[in-house]
Amino acid sequence: MHFLEISQLTVNEITTLMQRAFYFKSNPQAFPNYNQYTVAHLFYEDSTRTRVSFEMAANHLNMSVINVDLQHSSENKGETLDDTMQTLAAMGVNIFVIRHSQDGVPEHVAELGHGACVINAGDGMHAHPSQAMLDMMTIIEQKPHPEHLKIAIVGDLRHSRVANSLQCMCAALNVGELALIAPELWQPSSVYYGHVTTSLSDGLMDADVVICLRVQNERLSTTEYMDMTYYRANYALTSERLLLAKPNAMVMHPGPLNRGVEIDSNIADGPQSFILEQVRNGVFMRMAILEYATSSTF
Ligand code: CP
Repeated sequence: MHFLEISQLTVNEITTLMQRAFYFKSNPQAFPNYNQYTVAHLFYEDSTRTRVSFEMAANHLNMSVINVDLQHSSENKGETLDDTMQTLAAMGVNIFVIRHSQDGVPEHVAELGHGACVINAGDGMHAHPSQAMLDMMTIIEQKPHPEHLKIAIVGDLRHSRVANSLQCMCAALNVGELALIAPELWQPSSVYYGHVTTSLSDGLMDADVVICLRVQNERLSTTEYMDMTYYRANYALTSERLLLAKPNAMVMHPGPLNRGVEIDSNIADGPQSFILEQVRNGVFMRMAILEYATSSTF
């Protein structure tokens, strides 16, 4: 089974993946053995959390892991990405975990028909489905009824694959309210679920969960740059602003963090922060996703 984007999953598949991730978290002595599988990690774009947690997840499942060193691969000699994938599959790789700066590359690789399963570890500005899965796992662990929640996502929504996948996740689980907060320049080009606002106060008001996004300077075109003093003055998550949300609101961030830009350190490291719990849950959720990839029926 490929794992490419949240909108391709049924609600039952999402729920089953969550249950498996919680099971792995609660039963560290009872991990299943998938030693007949080989996973290749192909990270064409930088990563710390996603790459390492997929590797830890594969190790926990006793899978063989190949971290393909793309800095020294034969693509530098002119080999195509398609040929790289066909070559690895011919060697017996069963699962590709792919991150790429271009939208749609994991889907394209899945369509090549080499017989290996493809997991999307983040493609361009399109989707980051394993992040949305671990984010919702972290939310449900604390607040089990998403249909009663107000979730606010604040930041650079236009360039955020995380926000796209979270929109699909919130739609699938019928989240009570999803507020998408961004300055006009960084509003999402299409909205799948939720409502867009430029007002941080309106968006944060009575929120149960506040998800702060990174300012992604590397994805901005020349017309999309924003003055960071303006951004901080209007959209940064500070202690004062967090008071607008519910008193027990969860603070989340997919990482990596720009401390002092989109979020203040006292919030990121404060009692309402679940940022490191997201990272912890990422390992268990990625175990569930790798297991899903091995299954013909789920
Ligand atoms: N959240 C996330 O994808 O982080 P990395 O880029 O470190 O993998």
